[in-house]
Amino acid sequence: MSKVKFFYGENIPLEMHKVRIIQKLNLVPIERRLEAMREAGNNTFLLMNRDIYLDMLTDSGVNAMSDKQMAAMMEADDSYAGSETFTKLQKKVTEIFGKKYFLPAHQGRACENILSQIFVRSGSVVPMNYHFTTTKAHIVINGGSIEEIPIDEALNTISNFPFKGNMDINKLNAVIEKYGAENIAFVRLEAGTNLIGGQPFSLENMQEVRKVCDKFGITIILDTSLLSDNLYFLKSRENQCKEMSIREITLALSDLSDIIYFSARKLGSARGGGICTNDENAYLKIREFLPLYEGFLTYGGMSVREMEALTVGLEETMDENMVNQGPQFIAYMTEELLKKGVPVVTPPGGLGCHLDAMRFLQHIPQNQYPAGALAAALYIVSGVRGMERGTMSEQRDENGVEPFSNMELLRLALPRRVFTLSQVKYTVDRIIWLYENRDLIGGLKFVEEPQVLRFFFGRLDAVSDWQTQLVKKFRDDFGDSL
Ligand code: F0G
Repeated sequence: MSKVKFFYGENIPLEMHKVRIIQKLNLVPIERRLEAMREAGNNTFLLMNRDIYLDMLTDSGVNAMSDKQMAAMMEADDSYAGSETFTKLQKKVTEIFGKKYFLPAHQGRACENILSQIFVRSGSVVPMNYHFTTTKAHIVINGGSIEEIPIDEALNTISNFPFKGNMDINKLNAVIEKYGAENIAFVRLEAGTNLIGGQPFSLENMQEVRKVCDKFGITIILDTSLLSDNLYFLKSRENQCKEMSIREITLALSDLSDIIYFSARKLGSARGGGICTNDENAYLKIREFLPLYEGFLTYGGMSVREMEALTVGLEETMDENMVNQGPQFIAYMTEELLKKGVPVVTPPGGLGCHLDAMRFLQHIPQNQYPAGALAAALYIVSGVRGMERGTMSEQRDENGVEPFSNMELLRLALPRRVFTLSQVKYTVDRIIWLYENRDLIGGLKFVEEPQVLRFFFGRLDAVSDWQTQLVKKFRDDFGDSL
């Protein structure tokens, strides 16, 4: 993809695959979109697919599968225990990560549940480059707390720093000194750091983290759910990785970690997850939990068809043309928006294009959820569904105080190999229109607020009739267009 040069016109990302199965999409009129947003309590998680044109909520479980993945699903070996399908998957995981033991789980947070129950005690601390919502919830529910220690540049949305997912080594040393190594449950590194815009960490940074952890005897747990994007950025941005294959880079990262877990809804373009390690003690402890929460050791809550697809999907992730598709589409989208001055997170990362709602909607205070308001507004004007990644996605503390998020982002995920460039261009067009009409957008307030992970089911109202005004302006400008 990156190796093709163009003679005339734009330099655009070029797919190294073709579409062979399609799904029909609907684009319902804006009046219906307004109604649907209200029915969903202004929460894009509660929209129904029939009302959505382009679903950019997430890349989780919705990456396009290859012909080879689909074919593999047909020959799955279905049995409760000892299935041949599991043996194949186990061999592939061992080959790719170089770890001896593999424990299957039904998705990423299932791994987090088990790992937190094993390692986290009341008073334990987990330093990490950045949290993910489900990860933090599992650590907190087990009595622990997290310390986010990304480099300062991580939270700067206007940047050209190539590795904003890096952990700050000085802060790591300071956290260990503050709490004592015995109270550090483990150090967690997240590849392709989700909540700060899919930003990668460097191999060099992980090597430094390893040195510190070795000094204090601390376990490193690596979350590889978003590994594929991080691999692409290592290959294209880090000198020591330039001559390495994707497979070699994967092994280098794996060698620096004690335990790896992943959501196979992202990594491997299937649905499932798993944990791998060389540590026999950890393996034996994790194994005890598997039948309790997941299923027998040879399926862990996954269907055998998904395991077959995952085996092939992991192998396909070792192909540079596979891992570069998402980041290159995201870079294209980000750069087109930048040309019109739309505030986006830079440099472009993985997972999706991230709009910076704090700068997009400077007139909306954080207690009125600017990123949530932007998600609602964008859906209304385009039928595109994004995901709020800001204060709505935070949880109140034990005193009921709502922490304001470091960032207010609207994430527009580009699931791998799913959307076409014209669909990305349509989205860019509607975002630019929305940016020019941003003064019309108002805030949101909770009317139903669950205590845990409130962003999934919470319902909100608009603070004024701004949404009706937005629809009116759309009709004035676009006439009878959908
Ligand atoms: N870790 C990371 C970095 C993730 O992005 C996710 C999920 C998980 C763990 C949990 O995995 O969903 O399989 O249980 N991220 C999804 C998203 C939900 O939309 O970003 P899971």
